[in-house]
Amino acid sequence: MPTLRNVALTAPYMHDGRFATLEEVVEHYNGRLHRSQTLDPNLAKHPESGLGLSADDKAALVAFLKTLTDEQLVTTVNPVHQFSQTQ
Ligand code: HEM
Repeated sequence: MPTLRNVALTAPYMHDGRFATLEEVVEHYNGRLHRSQTLDPNLAKHPESGLGLSADDKAALVAFLKTLTDEQLVTTVNPVHQFSQTQ
C-alpha cells in the first residue's frame, strides 16, 4: 500500500480513482469481502457481512486519516533540495 501521508489531499482514491472521498473508501472497507482463494487467513476471519462499523466508527476513521495531513510538506517547494542544503 502506498503511504497514507496527506491522503486527505490526494483524491480520487485507489488505483483507478473509483472513490472521490475518504468516506467512500471507508464504506468500501466496511463492506463484504470478496472470498478469493488467495485471501489472507486473518482477513478471512472477518464476518461475512463486513466489519459492521457504526456511523461514529466510520467518522472517527475518516478523522484519523485527515490527521495524516502535513501542511509543511505540501507548501515546501522542493523537500529534497531543502534537505540537501542542511548537509
Ligand atoms: C479500515 C481499514 C483501512 C483503511 C482506513 C484503509 C485506507 C486506505 C485508503 C485511504 C486507501 C487509498 C489510498 C490512495 O488511493 O491514495 C487505501 C488503499 C489501499 N489499501 Fe487500505 N485501508 C484499510 C485496510 C486495508 C487492508 C486490510 C489492506 C490489505 C489487506 C489494505 C490494502 C490497501 C491497498 C492494496 C490499497 C491500494 C488499492 C488500490 O490502489 O486500488 N487496506 N487504503
